[in-house]
Amino acid sequence: MSLTLRESLAASPLPRLEARMLWQRVLGVSRAWLIAHDADPLDPARVAAYRALESRRVAGEPIAYILGQREFYGRDFEVTPAVLIPRPDTELLVECGLRAIRDVSGPHVLDLGTGSGIVAVTLALERPDARVRATDISPEALDVARKNARALGAKLLFSHGNWYDTELDSVRFDLIVSNPPYIDAQDAHLGRGDLRFEPPGALTDGADGLQALREIVQGAPDHLSPGGTLCVEHGWDQAQAVRSLFLCRGFVDVASERDLSGIERVTRGRVPA
Ligand SMILES: C[S@@+](CC[C@H](N)C(=O)[O-])C[C@H]1O[C@@H](n2cnc3c(N)ncnc32)[C@H](O)[C@@H]1O
Repeated sequence: MSLTLRESLAASPLPRLEARMLWQRVLGVSRAWLIAHDADPLDPARVAAYRALESRRVAGEPIAYILGQREFYGRDFEVTPAVLIPRPDTELLVECGLRAIRDVSGPHVLDLGTGSGIVAVTLALERPDARVRATDISPEALDVARKNARALGAKLLFSHGNWYDTELDSVRFDLIVSNPPYIDAQDAHLGRGDLRFEPPGALTDGADGLQALREIVQGAPDHLSPGGTLCVEHGWDQAQAVRSLFLCRGFVDVASERDLSGIERVTRGRVPA
């Protein structure tokens, strides 16, 4: 006798939400369809396809890599193992950036370490008048970001390089944003959960977790226009150290913003006008 969806969900070792997401992918249907048809007999070929995905998830592979996509700021982005899986916390970085350029028309924007492109593409779509440039040291990540920009209809320029060491021409930016790798290379979390599957170069700077942030803060005033803003995402315990980096480099109006869990997650500052 054929298995039904209800029976499959009951027997699955996965949380129901994840099992449903995999079934939606296998059947190409909506969540509402799954609920309405949970007593229908399943085609054995589909059951085999589902089981193949389920065993990858049971082995620990992140669901975003299995599905090849993740939602960010209300849009679906392609993700591959070449890029960090988008985190909801990073929406705070986008909001910080949007606020900083609210009163600037046709702003020049730079996203350092763009990964899948979520920050740069979202800024370009939310501010169609902005001239957005996105960089990364990983050519594979840039390929994913380019695909996302194309699929979502965002117009931006991409360049490859080490932070500011890329083709930036002589543009001065009204806004620089970055979510750099900020995990200490010795942090045991790197060997656990989803992090095991993500690119190490997207997670850690190979040092104390502040090295990439130091380089980004240090270089920013040479690339910002007068009054321009730098917004960076950082770890839960790095806000004070990052504010010190900003202040030592001459930034003004330096402040950190809290994410939905109440953690200081993004720090911003302006260069004097
Ligand atoms: C934490 S991920 C952030 C990705 C994306 N912006 C996001 O928020 O999901 C950091 C990104 O910085 C890139 N990166 C690491 N070192 C870099 C460097 N020296 N120069 C430029 N990009 C770098 C990584 O390849 C990775 O894509």
